[in-house]
Amino acid sequence: MPAAIQINDVHKTFRRGVKALRGVSMQVDPGQVFCLLGPNGAGKSTLVKILMTVIHASKISGTVLGKPIGHKPTLKRVGYLPERHRFPKYMTAEQALHFYGGLVCMRRKHRLLRIQQMLDLVGMSSWRKHKVGTFSKGMQQRVGLAQALLHDPELLLLDEPTDGVDPVGRRAIRDLILHLRSEGRTILINSHILAELESICDQLAVVVKGRVSLEGTVEDLTRGERRWIVQYRNVDLEWEDVAAESGPAGVRITLPGEDAGLAQPIIDRIRAAGGTITKVSQERESLEDLFMRALELAEDRDGATPGAAQGRDA
Ligand SMILES: Nc1ncnc2c1ncn2[C@@H]1O[C@H](COP(=O)(O)OP(=O)(O)O)[C@@H](O)[C@H]1O
Ligand SMILES: [Mg+2]
Repeated sequence: MPAAIQINDVHKTFRRGVKALRGVSMQVDPGQVFCLLGPNGAGKSTLVKILMTVIHASKISGTVLGKPIGHKPTLKRVGYLPERHRFPKYMTAEQALHFYGGLVCMRRKHRLLRIQQMLDLVGMSSWRKHKVGTFSKGMQQRVGLAQALLHDPELLLLDEPTDGVDPVGRRAIRDLILHLRSEGRTILINSHILAELESICDQLAVVVKGRVSLEGTVEDLTRGERRWIVQYRNVDLEWEDVAAESGPAGVRITLPGEDAGLAQPIIDRIRAAGGTITKVSQERESLEDLFMRALELAEDRDGATPGAAQGRDA
């Protein structure tokens, strides 16, 4: 199966010389949740808009669903949730979806059916006759997702889908994304919020200042960063060569490495001294740690610019 998205050396310079993308290459495999991460202004939305042909790249080569970027018929197989989208406030959820369904040339009968199904899927069917202008941000995002899904796309490009959404809404959106993946769809998510993506992201790329700083599967990127955690209380012990930290929950020991054998002598020693083990778990580098690592890599790559140094003094 060809890659869902494959791009090489994409550049975008806006008028007045803003270099939003400076040679981005990446590959999104089919059936994956791919997270495009990066700080604000990194170029994520610009890249998605280029894939949707909303704007044109200064330089590009690559494919979307096996067809060259810019191939209009392929866009019918792609769903798009734009960043900070707004539906006309006076429309009801249903009317807004009819409008967008019309834009992608869906027949009325098919549209009627899909609109009900998609509003159901995003948990908004009881609000279908209500005006979009009265909806919370989370509800608007859900209608936005229904819009992106209306024409049953194979590939979804979701630009900051959980932006401004409360924790309950974020969870609902996350579950929905997992459901969509289980149906075999490929999903690319742009985000600068990391925590909620942790459990759903298969592959990721971190973009910093228009370049990819880290890319790969979460599995691979965190492989060298596995650790065992042992937590205990009710005993005072001195540790040498082991990272031990006291906190409200007791003492927490961090052991770098993947081998469970590493934790055994530690556990034995705590138990022999009469301590209570409260936790033994394997952890990997969090997405947030990975993100920080990507920022550091980008800084090393770009070097300390005079602008950055001045920024700190100001
Ligand atoms: N239409 C535009 N004209 C000029 N500069 C733009 C335009 N759109 C985005 N930019 C600039 O390009 C850079 C990347 O923006 P964007 O892709 O929106 O970043 P992100 O989505 O990662 O936050 C920013 O510096 C932004 O100010
Ligand atoms: Mg953006």
